[in-house]
Amino acid sequence: MKMSVLMILPILLVSLSLGAALFEDLSTPVVMESFESKTKDKDPVFNEITIQPGDKKDIWLMAQSHNGIHYSKSKWDQIKIVVDKTTEPYSATYHQVKNGKEIELRAACYICHANGPRAIRPNYESSSVKYSLKDKALIGMMNLRIKTYGRIKMKKSNLILDGRPRQRPLAYDGPKNWQELNIPTCLKCHNDSGFLSRGILKGQQYGTIEHLTKTGAMPPWPYKLDEEEKKQLAEFISSFK
Ligand code: HEC
Ligand code: HEC
Repeated sequence: MKMSVLMILPILLVSLSLGAALFEDLSTPVVMESFESKTKDKDPVFNEITIQPGDKKDIWLMAQSHNGIHYSKSKWDQIKIVVDKTTEPYSATYHQVKNGKEIELRAACYICHANGPRAIRPNYESSSVKYSLKDKALIGMMNLRIKTYGRIKMKKSNLILDGRPRQRPLAYDGPKNWQELNIPTCLKCHNDSGFLSRGILKGQQYGTIEHLTKTGAMPPWPYKLDEEEKKQLAEFISSFK
């Protein structure tokens, strides 16, 4: 027993000092290859993620390349999520930016971002990106912040750009796209109220739902779907294909 405490102590000290060092520069950018997002041709997507933390709002910036990691930095897509911490629950807006100016969205953000910023899941097997210990710690800290936000609502004003409905919508219309995922185990957390709640998942989010359940990320351990729920999930997803 004594032995194991002694063995853990150095690790604890290293992680504490690493944590302290990171607190000073939480807004260091981190580059990662996404495990979930792929290009149309199933090639890797690279992201450089930065957070600008604030008292009233946190700004999440992401530069994204669908053209490989060596693509000229100035040409990477620039996207942004602003988390407003003055509302109850918190609320978020989604933006596409070019040369400092807001432009039409390149994708319907809400189909993947059901609840504000998404947990960052790097492809750790990437052949293009090597992750330092500091990168991993930084990603861990970002993910912790994302989880502790809890429920985040999309601001309705965000559906409009320059006084008009967006040409490329932020979220899709129609009852099927807003159909709720009513699987009891998922509802424990993906519900509109309650301690763990982060909003009921919608039909238009089927792609992300499929990805996270296939990879085993959802439901998180120790939660499990029973046979009836597995069937329900498969039917829900296939009804959108
Ligand atoms: C196909 C799914 C998908 C779509 C569509 C999408 N994102 Fe993301 N986004 C992700 C995932 C997944 C992450 C987390 C990084 C990772 O693991 O790849 C992420 C991360 C981000 C981040 C970094 C902070 C965070 O959430 O971790 C920002 C900022 C962001 N996205 C903005 C946007 C905006 C703005 C749009 C709409 C223009 C958008 N995204 C559309 C999947 C998507
Ligand atoms: C114990 C609580 C819990 C349960 C149960 C759970 N989730 Fe999640 N889910 C989370 C948390 C926390 C996140 C955000 C952090 C992350 O991605 O790991 C999340 C993220 C997601 C996301 C990404 C959108 C978002 O809210 O960030 C999807 C999609 C998702 N879960 C699907 C499911 C599905 C489908 C089920 C049921 C099969 C399920 N989850 C069960 C807690 C849960």
